[in-house]
Amino acid sequence: MTGFQLAERMGRLGTESAFELLAKAKALEAAGRTIIHLEIGEPDFPTAGHIREAAVAALEAGHTHYVPAPGIPELREGVAAFLERTGRMRVSPDRVVVTPGAKPVMFFTILALAGPGDEVLYPDPGFPMYESITSFAGATPVPVPLREANGFRIDTAELERLVTPRSKLLILNSPHNPCGGALTRGDCEAIAEIALRHDLVVLSDEVYWAIRYGGEHASVLDFDGMAERTVLLDGWSKTFAMTGWRLGFGVFPDWLVEPVTRLAINSVSCTSAFSQYAALAALEGPWTPVEDMVAEFRRRRDIVLAGLNDIPGISCVEPRGAFYAFCNITGTGLTSADLEARLLRDAGVAALSGTAFGPWGEGYLRLSYANSVPNLRTALEAIKSVVTSATP
Ligand SMILES: Cc1ncc(COP(=O)(O)O)c(C=O)c1O
Repeated sequence: MTGFQLAERMGRLGTESAFELLAKAKALEAAGRTIIHLEIGEPDFPTAGHIREAAVAALEAGHTHYVPAPGIPELREGVAAFLERTGRMRVSPDRVVVTPGAKPVMFFTILALAGPGDEVLYPDPGFPMYESITSFAGATPVPVPLREANGFRIDTAELERLVTPRSKLLILNSPHNPCGGALTRGDCEAIAEIALRHDLVVLSDEVYWAIRYGGEHASVLDFDGMAERTVLLDGWSKTFAMTGWRLGFGVFPDWLVEPVTRLAINSVSCTSAFSQYAALAALEGPWTPVEDMVAEFRRRRDIVLAGLNDIPGISCVEPRGAFYAFCNITGTGLTSADLEARLLRDAGVAALSGTAFGPWGEGYLRLSYANSVPNLRTALEAIKSVVTSATP
């Protein structure tokens, strides 16, 4: 043992439990157990052929060097054109910053804006990095509870009550991980009004934008005055099944582009050059692979929803987007952590305790249905037998 000490700030940096559960599940697999992975947040589809070919062509063409920190101009233009074509927003390419995955958009935005004395409002349950990065930045995370009775949508009256003069940033995520909820246009309008009234910056995490089951996508960006105070976080990971490529983008208000680019220069320099050509091919190529993937997710969602609602003690509201079922397990008499542990140990099913997403996740379990229908059916049977034989 040495006398080396980590910096104090490391004590404030959390982690993503999905990766920890994955490690436990892999260890069991290495010891010969069969595990069904329902903990993982990535599409189980291959990246479409035309995207892979574009990456190979870019490699062959020599795109293997540094490129501008905020992204190659063609891709920044491509993102702006894509956002306009898909009816989401009109934006000039110089407000687009391309990053290695969407996560850096979160990291850079929070680091650029929030520090000691500032409060950051974020959804709980929610993606664990929001709280972790906020604490790391020295700011105070303020959870905004998402309740099942409200379709796991933000209660805008409650949000307004949580705002204080110290509130700096509001993080939204719709469609939502882990709950599968989605904000309505009315919600977004009310949230936009709150942001304008209290001078909040909004980080709108829309990585699951394309994966929704009916209904238009709603965003705070649809409302006047929001473009100057909203960071749109999106990317290629979920929409195009490209998690391993590490490609994301942010659309920033003018005044944030330079600071965020500086953070990129200090940390990653730029995003992989040849990957950016593949990213452009994804935006400009056929939409059929995305449609097919979403149709398959919907089919699985219906199977998982019916299966969960058939288990005594478990109930699940219909997910409206993303590929997660967030089911209520309170009727089992078990805690979320206990059920997570029992499912892995007794049934070989890796599913995440709702508390991996914050204290408001107690009483819930998150199942990712980015897995095959036969595996999902086997897992549902296994969950049923664990739950019916369990005594708290
Ligand atoms: C809500 C949410 N935001 C952002 C991300 C990060 O995406 P990326 O893999 O592109 O960094 C994820 C990934 O799981 C997510 O669920």
